[in-house]
Amino acid sequence: MVEQVRNYLEEHQDRFVSELVDFLKIPSVSADSTLKSETRQGAEFVLKQMEAAGLESRLVETDGHPIVYGAWKKAAGKPTVLVYGHYDVQPPDPLDQWTTPPFEPDIRDGHIYARGATDDKGQMYTHIKSVEAWMKTHGELPVNVVFVIEGEEEVGSNNLDRFLEENHDLVASDIAVISDTSQYAPGIPAITYGLRGILACEVIVNGPSQDLHSGVFGGAVTNPGNGLAKMVAALHDDQGRVQIPGFYDGVIELTQEERDQFAALPFDEAKFMNALGVNAVAGEAGFSTLERRWARPTCDVNGMISGYTGEGPKTIVPAQARVKITCRLVPDQDPVALTKALEQFLREQLPPGLTMEFIDFHGCRALVFDFHSPYMSAARSAIEQAFGAAPVMIREGGSIPVVETFQKLVGVETLLLGWGQNTDNLHSPNERFSLEAFRQGTLASALLWQELAEIQV
Ligand code: BES
Ligand code: MN
Ligand code: MN
Repeated sequence: MVEQVRNYLEEHQDRFVSELVDFLKIPSVSADSTLKSETRQGAEFVLKQMEAAGLESRLVETDGHPIVYGAWKKAAGKPTVLVYGHYDVQPPDPLDQWTTPPFEPDIRDGHIYARGATDDKGQMYTHIKSVEAWMKTHGELPVNVVFVIEGEEEVGSNNLDRFLEENHDLVASDIAVISDTSQYAPGIPAITYGLRGILACEVIVNGPSQDLHSGVFGGAVTNPGNGLAKMVAALHDDQGRVQIPGFYDGVIELTQEERDQFAALPFDEAKFMNALGVNAVAGEAGFSTLERRWARPTCDVNGMISGYTGEGPKTIVPAQARVKITCRLVPDQDPVALTKALEQFLREQLPPGLTMEFIDFHGCRALVFDFHSPYMSAARSAIEQAFGAAPVMIREGGSIPVVETFQKLVGVETLLLGWGQNTDNLHSPNERFSLEAFRQGTLASALLWQELAEIQV
């Protein structure tokens, strides 16, 4: 039975890659309003592919970019799997750091290079192709599937909740599957059982009504650049601990068992530093690098700007300074309460002579799943067969807001099955995805449908 699926995947692999190249040519940057119609093209590409695979599919319009919905539900008595992915991508900047242009996919050293290659077009595509393989060889799937592929993941999934709320019947399922994380390392596939949550905001600090001559007026009014820098500096103490009152109140501390599990994973700090181009690791005192990345909360500047940043000097007191901040959260921190606490903390730090605006972008809670469920076992078996190695259980520091929504609104847990690598430059120049991972991931997906079909529901 499965042999035919395997053969189909092998025979059609080259076509899958060339289709992925076409998909990656579409600049579906959800954050860029000048690329609205291109982003829509991304949705239309997915729609066509899902239809060709044998899923009954349609575009769902939203107030933002469309959602692609597709389903096949003829496996009576079998589990229903909710597959989520996103066709939108991060902005490609800084453009001059790409070896080949972000939307002209290039295949070299076993990887396909393009914006969205791993996050998430290439990874998500594996599930469409595995469905195609089953449908073309068997005319049916071993399980029921529902696909929800959205176009606003990289900007906070603002219209997805409403779709899920209003369409309970369409998305009712037993388990969700998302391939939008990473393997642990090359040759070490992983199942991710926890993700950090997030809160995101922008702070605008205003001083004089326009830029001033810093010789004529400097020293007599508060400089918004100086003031904002002071506020940002107050966010951490010198032990790397976040100073927002109540920030750690909800934090569930790691158990010794989990710390031991993290410590047992192979991790070469020197190699890690080298890969990132840093001369030291740093963070909250008392925690290992993996603990800091996966299980401790953070508060980070994402961007900060004030005054003149062009060529050469310019002597001014700027009128304004702005900063974008995100906090990564762990169970059981509350993004709503902490957004308020962050705003209040910053207002308290605001030097006299300045005013402050606070923009709350989005947030989601962190999640950790029990990794002894039958669904996890099914995923473990599928991955082991496809990758030739048993997956390790890991947590990840990134966030996928829909995972919380699936738990709250659909009542399902999510299998986070990442085929990418941390070194695939996601959100960075020269994003890439290994062609071998693409092949193995597609096979793992095809085997997963079979493994999940064994579970009684
Ligand atoms: N695929 C990532 C999330 C991710 C990457 C999780 C690697 C684990 C490992 C996703 O597309 C992403 O970038 N999420 C954003 C969420 C935010 C925009 C709400 C993130 O984590 O910054
Ligand atoms: Mn993603
Ligand atoms: Mn992303």
